[in-house]
Amino acid sequence: MSQRHLRRFTDSRSAVRRTAVAGDARSDARGRLRTARRRWSAWTVVLGVLIAGCATNDLPQSALDPAGPVAASQDRLWDLVFWIAVAVFVIVQGMILLAVFRYRDRGGDDIPKQVAGNTRLELMWTVIPALILIGIAIPTVRTIFELARDPGDQALDVRVIGKQYWWEFEYLGDDGQGVVTANELHIPTGRAIALDMQSLSATQPDPGIEENPELGQPVSDGVIHSFWVPRLAGKQDVVPGHIRRMTIQADEPGTYPGQCAEFCGLSHARMRFQVIAHEPAEFEQWLADQTQPADAASGGLAAEGQELFQSQQCITCHAIDGYETAAGSAAEVRIGPELTHFAGRNTFAGGIFDVDDPEQLAAWLRNPQEVKPGSQMPNLGLSDEQIEALSAYLYTLE
Ligand code: CUA
Repeated sequence: MSQRHLRRFTDSRSAVRRTAVAGDARSDARGRLRTARRRWSAWTVVLGVLIAGCATNDLPQSALDPAGPVAASQDRLWDLVFWIAVAVFVIVQGMILLAVFRYRDRGGDDIPKQVAGNTRLELMWTVIPALILIGIAIPTVRTIFELARDPGDQALDVRVIGKQYWWEFEYLGDDGQGVVTANELHIPTGRAIALDMQSLSATQPDPGIEENPELGQPVSDGVIHSFWVPRLAGKQDVVPGHIRRMTIQADEPGTYPGQCAEFCGLSHARMRFQVIAHEPAEFEQWLADQTQPADAASGGLAAEGQELFQSQQCITCHAIDGYETAAGSAAEVRIGPELTHFAGRNTFAGGIFDVDDPEQLAAWLRNPQEVKPGSQMPNLGLSDEQIEALSAYLYTLE
């Protein structure tokens, strides 16, 4: 190889090396960037989870903020189990960390002492968990029995009926005077409310439904719902063909939101409701008002709406005092909510829309299937004028 060739050869080799080094540096940088990004993503997730646990106010559906004796006794049980779990976590993790750091491999060839079986340790890790489980089981079973106890004659009896996708509340006994509401359970404070719960389909023979194919899909049999007002009590499944009982009670007046907590179909997420607790005297007043007939529509647009209500298919499913639905007035055949005091409610359509928002009401009347898929409310093909008239009528129903 001539000097010239040799130089060129060396030059090209170092050029290759330079390129390789630059390439290494680039891929190193890329690798570092990737690691940094992964680390940031991991921290963001951890931080997000931690921060989510920091909210302290405006938690209308926190089971950790009980608002009555039933929820409070369930919460006490939760606290007990939580702190036991924290203690177990700290002790077990502490021992793992101790083992990892204190007995880590420090180089050298020493092989640790080999052991097989340790009776004392094995007894310990059998007996201690058994004691923990017994410690949790005793208060749990005691609480279950306490909560299942009949609240007695003082309680207000209310029948809760889960339907697709809304809740109906019927006040039973002399106290209740047969008042029926939808998606709003009004209760007095400081008094046990005994709930008789069931799931009914609106499927009982209803000539209106069968003769009007445009009234929508054939109505299915009842499905399982779950009644859940986190601040007042734990969940209770509502099962077709069974009566389930539970007691709730609120200490303070207020609005306690609840929701269906068991997947029950397309609009399961739109099956919400409110429990509204009043001072006892205020509650009695509310109940008395509910027994009053709806305000009669007073001419004009509202009267037009009233006429529409009766001539359209509305009356097939919705009762307003004085009118029964086409199928009668029993809970089994009430397909849609009773509307006597519609305008006095906060929400409608399973607690998802504001009664006070005329646009939401219009959207619902125009195309219920769009705003609440799978609901039993069919698209009625109403014109804007009809919607306006019906709304005007509904807003007279204080
Ligand atoms: Cu009803 Cu989910």
